[in-house]
Amino acid sequence: MGKTLISENLIENYTVQIATTEHLHLAEAICAEMEESAKARGTGIAKRSSEYLRAKMEEGKAIIALDNEGQFIGFCYVETWEHGKFVANSGLIVKPEWRKYGIAKAVKMRAFELSRTNYPDAKIIGITTSLAVMKINSELGYEPTTFSELPVNDAFWNGCKSCVNYDVLTRTDRKHCLCTGMIFDPEWEKNKAKREAEASLKEKEKETEHIEWNFLKDVKVLERLKSIKEKMFLKMQVRKAKRVVV
Ligand SMILES: CC(C)(COP(=O)(O)OP(=O)(O)OC[C@H]1O[C@@H](n2cnc3c(N)ncnc32)[C@H](O)[C@@H]1OP(=O)(O)O)[C@@H](O)C(=O)NCCC(=O)NCCS
Repeated sequence: MGKTLISENLIENYTVQIATTEHLHLAEAICAEMEESAKARGTGIAKRSSEYLRAKMEEGKAIIALDNEGQFIGFCYVETWEHGKFVANSGLIVKPEWRKYGIAKAVKMRAFELSRTNYPDAKIIGITTSLAVMKINSELGYEPTTFSELPVNDAFWNGCKSCVNYDVLTRTDRKHCLCTGMIFDPEWEKNKAKREAEASLKEKEKETEHIEWNFLKDVKVLERLKSIKEKMFLKMQVRKAKRVVV
């Protein structure tokens, strides 16, 4: 349950969850909001039918945010490409009156969690012009990437067909467009875990070395200690002799 301030005096509650068949009736409203937002932004987005969104809900591949009356306030779904090699959390939308309160972040985080659980070896990708989405993706560990790292199949790029900038994408042979490509590679996590394990092992080895150091066996240190003591002893002897003479 999230808590957010939607006006000066009003605190509203909302929930973010995996959508189920209970939410099928909200697909039309989500679709309509997606279209409205696309018009307002003037970019155009991949057009999704309400049937498509319902299928995502039935498959357990959609995340929905609801207000305390059970109305949709945010949505996003999981798509896979190249037999699960790539996963995208697409169709992110938050109702205008609920924007800038962290709803998109909460929805994307839940979608990311779902994607990591269901497709632990998949690269999670996204293309966007939205600064808000870039910020959220960066927080989740995505990094900017070139389009060459994204899926090569047409099915993925067909999603861009209804965008007003599609001609830029085709003119550049899918190498560049106005969107920024972002990617999360699970290998980074594995390598990070491996590096951390190695570093902690080295640290432990150092500690053990320190504990097990036997200075009696360290001839050089012993010799140095001996020579210091000899010098001190000699100095004391000289001082004593001087006192006797006086
Ligand atoms: C983009 C969108 C989903 C953001 O939803 P939101 O609930 O307002 O986003 P959040 O409140 O979770 O904000 C996430 C971060 O983005 C920032 N942000 C939100 N809207 C922003 C904007 N218009 N410009 C710049 N930054 C913005 C927030 O400040 C926050 O950053 P922080 O973590 O540093 O504080 C929403 O504006 C929307 O539905 N837009 C229309 C559809 C769309 O563009 N979808 C994305 C397609 S890729």
